[in-house]
Amino acid sequence: MPRSELTRLLTRTREMGGLLATPASAVSTLSGKVVANLFFEDSTRTRLSFTVAAKRLGADVIDLLGSTSSVSKGETLIDTACNIEAMGVSAVVVRARQSGAAALIASRVSIPVLNAGDGKHEHPTQGLLDTYTLAEASKRLDSFDLKGLRVAIVGDVAASRVARSAIAAMTTLGAEVICVGPAGLAPKSLESLGCAVTSDLDTILPTLDGVMMLRIQFERYEGAKNPGAASAPPANPVIASVREFRASYALTAARAERMKAGAVVMHPGPINRGIELDAEVADGPRSVILRQVTNGVTVRAAVLRDLIAG
Ligand code: CP
Repeated sequence: MPRSELTRLLTRTREMGGLLATPASAVSTLSGKVVANLFFEDSTRTRLSFTVAAKRLGADVIDLLGSTSSVSKGETLIDTACNIEAMGVSAVVVRARQSGAAALIASRVSIPVLNAGDGKHEHPTQGLLDTYTLAEASKRLDSFDLKGLRVAIVGDVAASRVARSAIAAMTTLGAEVICVGPAGLAPKSLESLGCAVTSDLDTILPTLDGVMMLRIQFERYEGAKNPGAASAPPANPVIASVREFRASYALTAARAERMKAGAVVMHPGPINRGIELDAEVADGPRSVILRQVTNGVTVRAAVLRDLIAG
């Protein structure tokens, strides 16, 4: 997405904050419209914030979850989406395990399709809300020019659709983005996305304006198990051990103390507390994690209004 379009959507997000503060005018925006959530992977934040956003704009929302849909009987995602379009809905929000799923569906239906996360590929509204939150924390909401800001994305970048969308948005707006992790989680090939890559968090930490921590997506690695606790034995092929990962990459209270004044801690969620991020930091003064969630509603309301009402 070019810089002009990104800035336009983020400006609409800023304006949407005002509209949502006056419920009467917000409710008429999408009154009579129906938004369908098609979620074939689990979600807390994305599905509920799309739902809250659509409802606050006056739309009705229907949910189709993978586990209860006829996809379990062999129906394709495209047939599913075409059937939902035939019911007269105004837009579909799609989360799927397959990279490219939302784009494929969009090529076969005529209503707007919003990508709520496709495999390891992209999570566009998450990228928007992360970028908006960074601009807000650094007082750049007037221009959304992020030049001069240094942001690290730490952890399982390889499996992260959140990272890919955040890298695209933040670098387009001028920020320097550095992916950090062991080579298996942050491979050098990520540099092709316009970011830098390093395995040394401790050296760059005091220079950063923002750190976005990512959980290790154990469910996407064959044979991997989420150890659930830092003390569990190694049980997966993506890192040698959780203990070793934490030693170099976890954002502990001691590491957070080395961040510069005003630097913020972000996380798209879900957090695996005690693995990539410690509770004192997640709930501490640098954390803008719940601000990301709040901004997620506003971003999604702005995008829904843009696509459905124009
Ligand atoms: N950030 C994010 O996509 O969270 P959910 O998986 O809970 O939607």
